[in-house]
Order: sequence, then structure tokens, then C-alpha cells
Amino acid sequence: MKIQEISHYLSLQKKNVEQALPLYIERLDAPHILKDAMSYSLEAGGKRIRPLFLLSTLKAFRCDEQVGLPAACAIEMIHTYSLIHDDLPSMDNDDLRRGKPTNHIIFGEANAILAGDALLTYSFQLISEMSEEHVSPETKLKLITELVKAAGAEGMVGGQVADIEGEGQKLTLSELEYIHNHKTGRLLAFSIKAAGIIANATTKQLEMLEGFAMHLGLAFQIRDDILDIEGTVEAIGKPVGSDESNHKNTYPSLLTIDGAKEKQEHHINQAMKILSELKIDTEVLEYLCDLVGTRQN
Ligand code: IPE
Ligand code: IPE
Ligand code: MG
Ligand code: MG
Ligand code: MG
Repeated sequence: MKIQEISHYLSLQKKNVEQALPLYIERLDAPHILKDAMSYSLEAGGKRIRPLFLLSTLKAFRCDEQVGLPAACAIEMIHTYSLIHDDLPSMDNDDLRRGKPTNHIIFGEANAILAGDALLTYSFQLISEMSEEHVSPETKLKLITELVKAAGAEGMVGGQVADIEGEGQKLTLSELEYIHNHKTGRLLAFSIKAAGIIANATTKQLEMLEGFAMHLGLAFQIRDDILDIEGTVEAIGKPVGSDESNHKNTYPSLLTIDGAKEKQEHHINQAMKILSELKIDTEVLEYLCDLVGTRQN
């Protein structure tokens, strides 16, 4: 595929996800304020990079993307919940997200916490309701088990706790790597591994996908740290300098901005290397991997 075709393919898939997300919220029998708070953050925009990784990995295995759409939306819901909670006054205390006031600014803290809870729990329902024609009960169970590990105490939540515990302390590089791998890497990795599970990839392929995804996830969060310094509010849609004001440990704070850029490049290169060894149709994944290293938002 030419570059224009890849970017056209990705914008179609992004639209596919963005059309599905509001429909999932609409059908909920729940208080209006809760549905409004869930929709507010879900529909505020965002790159939808995790759903795009899931759908593009399915494409790499020549599987129908529509089969994975509920799982792609489930990941976007968990990710959005993590952002709503991450912005709370008791966490990063940020007032701008995806170019709009954060959820708690509009709906108040209690509703923001509960909207996050509802997005998290709903994501499991979406996977459990995937089409039985294409996804067996065993596969669904595997997906849910992997998602729990990626999102929970051994994954994103554990990483967020370590991130907050580390505020104001000087951590070692390996402690910081733990934080980045867990708070960001694991969920991003799940979106790629989930597609492998749906596509019935071999154990070897799943291991390689996981290695690819972990390098990618780490590079993604290093880039996020860099953009917190070098980005503009207009481009990133969130405050610049949030990490410094919260005394966070970041790659630039530990390694300097140039050191952080070198690390990011190293992990992108490692991810690309694994991709080139995977015998599947990886051209869209290569494009996305490159985007993770060069993104401006
Ligand atoms: C931001 O994620 C938080 C991190 C895990 C680094 P994204 O950069 O994917 O945010 P959106 O979804 O595009 O808003
Ligand atoms: C948090 O990292 C990642 C999660 C939300 C799990 P950050 O706190 O750096 O994310 P941003 O910069 O607020 O998006
Ligand atoms: Mg944070
Ligand atoms: Mg934050
Ligand atoms: Mg950040």
C-alpha cells in the first residue's frame, strides 16, 4: 500500500471506532448524567491509537476488522477511564484533556470517578458480548483475563500507583521503566496482543507481538514525557509542564531531553526489528510504529 492508502485506511478505521462508541453508550439504561459524563470524555477526540493498533494487527493477520471492533472500543473505554482518573485533583490535577476542560471540571469529582468506573466495567461487557460466530467463549475468556492483567494491579493501576508514590523522589532508570511499562505499556500492548488472540496466532507469534508492543508502549510514554516539555497546549490538548509541576519522574528529568529522545528511538528501532521478523502483513503496523516515534500530539 502507498502511504496515502495507509493513512486513508487508518482514518476510515478511526471513523469506524468513533461511530461505534456513542452507540454503545446510547443503549445503556443508566442515569443521564452518568451517560453524559461517559460520552463527554469518550467523544472529546483523541488519537484512538489503541483501537487502531488492534484493528491494524487484525489486518496484518488478514482477519475481518469488524470482528474486533467491540474489543477495540473496550480498550478505548478503559483508556478513557484511566485519563479521567489521571486528571483528578488527587492525581495529576489537570484541567484540560483532549482540548476540553477535564471531566471533573464539568461534572464534578464524584461523577468523574463514577464515569471512569462505568467505562472500566462496561469494557468487560463489550468483550463478553462479542459475536459467538467469530469469537469462541474460550477466546473471550482469554481476552478478558489478559485485559484484567493489563489494566489492573499488575498493569496500568499498579503503574499509576508507582508513578504517584515516586513523585518528588529521584528514581532509578529501572524504577522509571517499571512505571512507564505498567501505566502505559501494558494496555497498549494488550491492544496488539488481543488481535493476535482473536486471530488465533501461534504462541511464538504472540510472544513476538508482545515484545513488539512492549517496546512500542515504552516509546509511546517516553514521547508523552517529551511532549509535556516540548509540545504546545494547542497540539497536545492538555497542559504543558504538568510533569514538572507535579515533581514527576520522567525520561527527560532522568536522562535529559536528548537522552530521552535516544531511548525513544532505541525502543522504536527494537519494535521495528521484531516487526520485520514477524511473517505477517505488517505495513500498517510499521506506519503506526513510526508515528509513535514522531507524533506531535
Ligand atoms: C495519553 O494517551 C496518556 C498516556 C498513556 C501517555 P494518548 O496520548 O493516547 O491520549 P489520547 O487518547 O490521544 O487523548
Ligand atoms: C498517565 O501518564 C497514563 C495513564 C493515564 C494511565 P500521564 O499522566 O503522563 O498522562 P497524561 O500526560 O496526563 O496524558
Ligand atoms: Mg499521570
Ligand atoms: Mg497525567
Ligand atoms: Mg504525560
